[in-house]
Amino acid sequence: MSSTAVIGLQWGDEGKGKIIDSLTATADMVVRYAGGNNAGHTVYVGDDKYVLHLIPGGILHDKKVNLIGRGLVVNLAALHEEIDGLVARGVPVLERLRIDGRAHLIFPYHCKLDGMVEKWRGSGRIGTTGRGIGPAYADKVARTGIRLIDVLDAEYFKERLNAALAEKDAVMREVYGVEPDSHDDLYETTIEQAAALRDIIVDGGKLIREAYAAGKKVLFEGAQGAMLDLDAGTYPYVTSSWTGIAGIAGGTGFPANKVDRALAVTKAYCTRVGEGPFPSELHGKVGEDLRAAGGEFGATTGRPRRCGWFDAVQARYACEFNGLDGVFITKLDILSGFDEIQVCVAYKLADGTEVTEYPAEGSKLEGVVPIFESLPGWSEDLTAATSLADLPENCINYVRFMQKQMCVPVVSLSVGPGRSQSFECEISEVVNA
Ligand code: GDP
Ligand code: IMO
Ligand code: MG
Repeated sequence: MSSTAVIGLQWGDEGKGKIIDSLTATADMVVRYAGGNNAGHTVYVGDDKYVLHLIPGGILHDKKVNLIGRGLVVNLAALHEEIDGLVARGVPVLERLRIDGRAHLIFPYHCKLDGMVEKWRGSGRIGTTGRGIGPAYADKVARTGIRLIDVLDAEYFKERLNAALAEKDAVMREVYGVEPDSHDDLYETTIEQAAALRDIIVDGGKLIREAYAAGKKVLFEGAQGAMLDLDAGTYPYVTSSWTGIAGIAGGTGFPANKVDRALAVTKAYCTRVGEGPFPSELHGKVGEDLRAAGGEFGATTGRPRRCGWFDAVQARYACEFNGLDGVFITKLDILSGFDEIQVCVAYKLADGTEVTEYPAEGSKLEGVVPIFESLPGWSEDLTAATSLADLPENCINYVRFMQKQMCVPVVSLSVGPGRSQSFECEISEVVNA
């Protein structure tokens, strides 16, 4: 197998950063294909903590190519800040990083618009990260976006930018009734920011295709999670890109039929940041205990994450539409100390019917009552476990229960944030045979 994808199975923050960093040891190239600096992927190397936003999770390894694919929306100021921060910590980023010239750019007006649109949504606000993601993707689809490669042609860029600024300024004035920010030296600054990257701007699709053909191992790093997918997720409470396996071909230029292995990361429970339906959410003390035990605060915005029990209805749906071959379970250690652990196995709709398929209607999802099945917990500390044999029986039973609900093999368990705190396993009871 020479290409493997790892995506988030839930609403993001499943621990993708940690898993990608570990898998990089046996890969040659790590590729991000969607999202932007709305992502926050945490990697620990010993006690050193790194939070990556745009830069792929293989950057801390020597001799690996890390590619920002064409499907991302890139804020150049944020990218330079991230590069500089890593360089200051001794990471030779420019040796290891490449960026596809077709990637679209996020400009300050996108961030401003993100805030304005959220304000106008009122109680229907999405709770975005405020990073300009939605407006930048909207421009891409409307064909008013500007790509990194466009900036390298100064005259062409001037034309595109002036047209974009004229439109955005009119929208600010006429639609939102506010005076637009001055654009000062946006043109010059962007040219400088892009020029500083000139040597690492590539045709990303070609780079991956050639590496794959030469037998190199390519790892695709998902951002966000399956339920934040623009089409498959809890629309409109989603992000503006294709977060799942389906996003890889469009977001990189690597053919869809050559993704050899599709994997996902799920927490042993659920979290969500921002607004939107979350059927298994816990509003009382147990939810607070989960947040405290799991340190569930956003890696990008610092917002407290909403917490709930593992939602098997949601997880099964995400496994199915992504055609997964295996699942990593993270944060199993966080469940130590809970007397009982619940799993949401069905939803009761407002009209009393019970469903085990994820409803498409937002109105149905808002009002569902989760049907939980209860499993006995365990008190043992799991953080030093290195194999299934080190886990208490109730914990193994819990993982087996999760696996049967997902109908996809569990291939690895993670019991702490550190690089060494996970181990491979194979739990794959055949169900629905
Ligand atoms: P990502 O966006 O999917 O990369 O996840 P985040 O980095 O936003 O959030 C995951 C958090 O959980 C980070 O703080 C990780 O260091 C941490 N983490 C990952 N795996 C484990 C685990 O198995 N146990 C514990 N306790 N923490 C973990
Ligand atoms: P990683 O890659 C968790 C959420 C936001 C909001 C919605 C839309 O670290 O898992 P956006 O700014 O994208 O328009 O916001 O999506 N969101 C995330 N939640 N983890 C993320 O990334 C997220 N990226 C976006 O909170 O609800
Ligand atoms: Mg995150």
